[in-house]
Amino acid sequence: MPLRDHFPIFQSKTYMNSCSYGALSAEVREACLSYLDDRDRFGSHWEVWVEKLETLRPMLAQMVSASPAEVAIVSCLSDGLNSLVSALDFTGERNKVLLTDFDFPSTAQIWRAQERKGAVIECIPCHAGELTIPVERFAEYIDESTLVLSLPHVCYRNGARLDVASIIKLAHAKGARVFLDCYQSIGATPVDVRKLNVDFAAGGMLKYLISSSGSAFLYVKEDLITNLQPALSGWFSQADINAMDIYRNAPANNARRFESGTPNIPSIYAAIAGLRLVDEVGVGEIERHVKTLTSAIKQKTLENGFKLAMPGEDGAHGPLITIRSTDMHQLVANLADAGVVTSCRDGNLRISPHFYNNLDDVEILFEALNNQRELLVCR
Ligand SMILES: Cc1ncc(COP(=O)(O)O)c(C=O)c1O
Repeated sequence: MPLRDHFPIFQSKTYMNSCSYGALSAEVREACLSYLDDRDRFGSHWEVWVEKLETLRPMLAQMVSASPAEVAIVSCLSDGLNSLVSALDFTGERNKVLLTDFDFPSTAQIWRAQERKGAVIECIPCHAGELTIPVERFAEYIDESTLVLSLPHVCYRNGARLDVASIIKLAHAKGARVFLDCYQSIGATPVDVRKLNVDFAAGGMLKYLISSSGSAFLYVKEDLITNLQPALSGWFSQADINAMDIYRNAPANNARRFESGTPNIPSIYAAIAGLRLVDEVGVGEIERHVKTLTSAIKQKTLENGFKLAMPGEDGAHGPLITIRSTDMHQLVANLADAGVVTSCRDGNLRISPHFYNNLDDVEILFEALNNQRELLVCR
């Protein structure tokens, strides 16, 4: 894979933690510095700031196969979801919100915060001993009272990838909307909101889009936008950002209505640079490359007698591979001492390769893991 030498971290470490943060490239570093240089050079630079936002928007739209008018740029996924849910009505007969055991805490907490507005929350479980949530379980829970299903594409805890295409069809057959959280897939797995026919989707720039914290996106399907009036607002959500009208809240008639105040501009500089790199390699190519690496990791996990924490079949997991540990924090710390950067959740070691990793990294990882056998669940 080209471009590995754009990521200085590999000079000193074996970095395999893209599910937490993507590695920092020379391009993203330069983009961050160019924000500061621009401040020095121009002093105030408002037009260029707004222009940067409108450079990023079509790039993000292309990443999910949406139109730019369907994409709001927000500071974190939670901000986008908060704005979206503020526009939903939970007082009708359709007031049920379905979560899953795979939801990230933020999404679950935001949906639960709607209980006082009338939402009835139910969680679709992943039972003890199961590594994923089968499609049939969704069919048992989705009914005519379901307003919306919160659906993670890839579980942040164990890497299981849900069959979102089938689940979205099931939800639509009952008249329910679907919010797809694709933060753990976007940038390493193609996400096509049109093909999926999903209603809402969100992700952020920090992980496989290899940029920075401080920017994320919310997709809202075009024909739903104008019927959704967020109770959150701000001047960047208005039809005319320059209206400066304190007597009216006049939201844009596109997805900008889900934005609020001054964007996180330094992060937008970084996001443009990160997306350019991802685009240069191509998400299809990244998916193929990551599959080679995840296949090698799965095979070595089995050869070494360790235990996978996600379903092993291709397609049933995302770019994140997880291995059961007896003491995950100690394991991550010991691997870090050996120069291998990983992370953990829920008793699982998380290994998340991206396009900049190679099979040598996998060898180094397993050499280090073999020195930590007492911290791994062995079969
Ligand atoms: C699947 C998923 N959703 C949401 C988030 C958090 O999003 P934010 O902090 O941007 O609100 C994360 C962060 O790790 C995540 O993995």
